[in-house]
Amino acid sequence: MSSFDVPSLMRALREHPVPLEHMCHLRDVLVKQSSTPNFLFSACRDPEQDGSELADAELGAMLSGVALGQWPMGVAAVDAWVKRLLERRPSCVLEFGSGVSTVVSATILRRIHGDQRVRVFSIEQGEDAGAETRARLEANGLTNLVSMHIAPLQEGVVDVFSGVGYGTDPEQLVKFIGDARPEMVMVDGPFGKYGARFSTIPLVHALLAADAEIWMDDALRDSELAIARWWHELGYISDPELQWTAKGILRAKRGASPKQYAAAAQTMGLGGMSGLVAEYALFKLRVQAARADKAGLQPPFMTT
Ligand SMILES: C[S@@+](CC[C@H](N)C(=O)[O-])C[C@H]1O[C@@H](n2cnc3c(N)ncnc32)[C@H](O)[C@@H]1O
Repeated sequence: MSSFDVPSLMRALREHPVPLEHMCHLRDVLVKQSSTPNFLFSACRDPEQDGSELADAELGAMLSGVALGQWPMGVAAVDAWVKRLLERRPSCVLEFGSGVSTVVSATILRRIHGDQRVRVFSIEQGEDAGAETRARLEANGLTNLVSMHIAPLQEGVVDVFSGVGYGTDPEQLVKFIGDARPEMVMVDGPFGKYGARFSTIPLVHALLAADAEIWMDDALRDSELAIARWWHELGYISDPELQWTAKGILRAKRGASPKQYAAAAQTMGLGGMSGLVAEYALFKLRVQAARADKAGLQPPFMTT
């Protein structure tokens, strides 16, 4: 398949989300043929567009003159998110990575619920980016709707998975989110190396509504495909699909009961072998096999 054929396929499938595993297989075939990592992301993403092209008139006016699709979410991704917010009418949402997306979610939730309560919980890695988002919110009268948690990147461990991600922990997150149970999550950060977004959903899974839906932007990128695949494998998400628009959008349901391997890893370290330890040993073999396939999607974490 040539690089011409793939964008054509993408156009044909724009409105039809594809099961995540199909996208991972397509990615592996293309990368093996072209030796180009991130092939889907570089060949297929939408070009930048002006905010005035958004389908929603209020947002189009608010974001006129703002280029969407490079750092911020692309127009098609914002349109899809807005459509779903208006259908689902969540009481609140959680996002990783602030910016245009914060303004978008706050505007729509203000339209649905008014502006008396915080409706958008935003986790942001940088003080400067946070200040820029706050200024945008203030300019549009949206300050009351948003609560922001600044969490600079650091090395950390969630369950048995180590890597660099948002420098926060369950205790801080419980304080930040309080009794709210976000029903929709947008993962669009942090900005970082391969696998940087892996820890996001494991960190907040227990704080989400049981029927929460989880979206992730930039999902055509190898790192995000790998993260989504392993979230699914570990049970953090279910029914993952990839919408082949903008930079790729992952759409999934919150998984009911993700694997927790920390105790098994500890028992194995002490030489013991329970049922879960045996399962964890097999899981580690699968991780090793994925790592050995150099052209395949690399796991987005190290295991303890
Ligand atoms: C993909 S961006 C998040 C974009 C956001 N959700 C939006 O729709 O505008 C992820 C993170 O990158 C950082 N960032 C944003 N713009 C940046 C820029 N121009 N250069 C470097 N980092 C940036 C911010 O810390 C942000 O949270």
